[in-house]
Amino acid sequence: MNVVEVDSYNEMSRKASELIVKKIKENTSSVLGLATGGTVIRVYQMLIKDHLVNGTSYREVNTINLDEYVGLGSSDSNSYRYYMNENLFTHLDIPQEQSHLPNGMATNRKEECVKYEELIGELGGVDLQLLGIGENGHIGFNEPGTSFRSKTHVVKLMESTRKANARYFSSLDSVPTHAVTMGIDTIFRSKQILLLASGMKKAAAIDWLLNGEVSEDLPASILKKHNRVTVIADKDALSLSKVSGITFTK
Ligand code: PGA
Repeated sequence: MNVVEVDSYNEMSRKASELIVKKIKENTSSVLGLATGGTVIRVYQMLIKDHLVNGTSYREVNTINLDEYVGLGSSDSNSYRYYMNENLFTHLDIPQEQSHLPNGMATNRKEECVKYEELIGELGGVDLQLLGIGENGHIGFNEPGTSFRSKTHVVKLMESTRKANARYFSSLDSVPTHAVTMGIDTIFRSKQILLLASGMKKAAAIDWLLNGEVSEDLPASILKKHNRVTVIADKDALSLSKVSGITFTK
């Protein structure tokens, strides 16, 4: 695992966006795995700016998002499809049919999960997966205790995750109780992974990730077994970590 320490959220976002643009330049038909949430939002702003200024094109790119809330459709401002359209897709030249998220409105959710796995396979797998990390160490919506062998599946969200995400909703009660998420094995099969962390709230999870055991109690810890992972974290996120035995660059 390569760990890059940066001074700020802005620098984290800049480095991440540069890596993504480099990947697209190397392979204009890359399959990008994308995430939602607060951590990645500046990265998307920087990708949009780069697209406008430097003309990086997404015409041949496919994107695969990690997850979607069950019961929220694309016109719901809290759905992840809406977030992605607003914060990224409509500002790029990516054809809408090449941006993929699980369908949170699917009536047959099991079938939706199987179809999502098949789609990733048909696209040849994810070339670069962008990840945030939950305060409890989750990746996607894979909460602690999720099997490392899990594929795309429906999850019941932990109360702590619902509370962490309630800031986007009118009340805690309106936060969905379930989501469809790529599984941990699905994420692990990505060819390259970029995990971002910013702020003190992530410090405990990052310390466990860097210095703790690989355990299903910390879903992100599986990434230690992957041979192409870069963690970009700011000083606050690294404030509890004594990093040892890991390539550490600044
Ligand atoms: P955040 O979420 O970027 O909003 O902190 C990350 C996550 O929960 O994976």
